[in-house]
Amino acid sequence: MKRACVIGWPIAHSRSPLIHQFWLRTYGIEGSYTKEAVRPEDLKAFIGSLKERGFAGCNVTVPHKEAVFSLAEIKSSSAVAVGAANTLWLEGDALACANTDSYGFMANLDQSAPHWRASRGPIMILGAGGSARAVIHGFLEAGREDIRVFNRSIERAEATARHFGARVTAWAWDIRNDHTADVSVVVNTTTLGMNGVGDPEIDFSRAGRDVVVADIVYVPLETPLLSSARRYGLTGVDGLGMLLHQAVPGFEKWFGVRPEVTRELYNLIAENIREA
Ligand SMILES: NC(=O)c1ccc[n+]([C@@H]2O[C@H](COP(=O)([O-])OP(=O)(O)OC[C@H]3O[C@@H](n4cnc5c(N)ncnc54)[C@H](OP(=O)(O)O)[C@@H]3O)[C@@H](O)[C@H]2O)c1
Repeated sequence: MKRACVIGWPIAHSRSPLIHQFWLRTYGIEGSYTKEAVRPEDLKAFIGSLKERGFAGCNVTVPHKEAVFSLAEIKSSSAVAVGAANTLWLEGDALACANTDSYGFMANLDQSAPHWRASRGPIMILGAGGSARAVIHGFLEAGREDIRVFNRSIERAEATARHFGARVTAWAWDIRNDHTADVSVVVNTTTLGMNGVGDPEIDFSRAGRDVVVADIVYVPLETPLLSSARRYGLTGVDGLGMLLHQAVPGFEKWFGVRPEVTRELYNLIAENIREA
């Protein structure tokens, strides 16, 4: 029986088992996917013994994403771009890692609002944390030339811009609404809106009608940013789709089947979020 898991500290909140267990059932695979609470001081020993523990690999969540990136012997380009990993697997005896948030974000954007690719305007990224780097990497891979990062602490936006090079620029948080008339895609990667707390407060009154607005926060599903975008008739893309798509590459590595993100899976996790 093939086994995989998600590791973090704490780990109780993770919805990854719901996603992977749905696919195991759907494809009739005899396998398991569990939650494993791993303290930071035990991380190295845990991932060094994945094989002995019978795991083909694992997902990785807070606070271990940077540490596993350092520990892995084979690093995918996505993990190198972000400097952190969320998916581990074994290649022979070597530990390999990837950051699938970048793939997950872009796959969801393509599925939910494919017309974004026809646009040419700048991309507005709100936030400069770990997930912002994953999203920026996705837009760079898609060939975008003008990616503007707005962050509360400008130093972090500047560090992000330096990390990626000339196509990514750093901007002060307070002037974000001066740019809404030009941009083609707006992405919230801050924690604003999470659990109903805060709002990035974007004024869409001057935005073009084909602007796509994505929020990677997925609790609640309809964030203040998405509600505000929809009030102006703009296309909104929620964060749950990213969560589902980012799980695809790991499942395929561990269980040998590339799973589909279906409406049934979306509804299952959406219901779990609404009940929380
Ligand atoms: N949908 C998905 O699959 C998915 C995947 C990954 C993450 N997420 C979600 O994405 C969010 C961010 O995750 P992360 O790992 O990137 O977090 P992070 O590294 O801690 O970054 C947090 C970001 O939010 C900004 N921020 C926090 N409070 C703010 C405020 N009051 N005003 C303005 N900016 C504020 C921070 O700005 P400073 O730099 O100034 O502190 C920083 O840019 C979380 O809600 C997480 O759940 C979703």
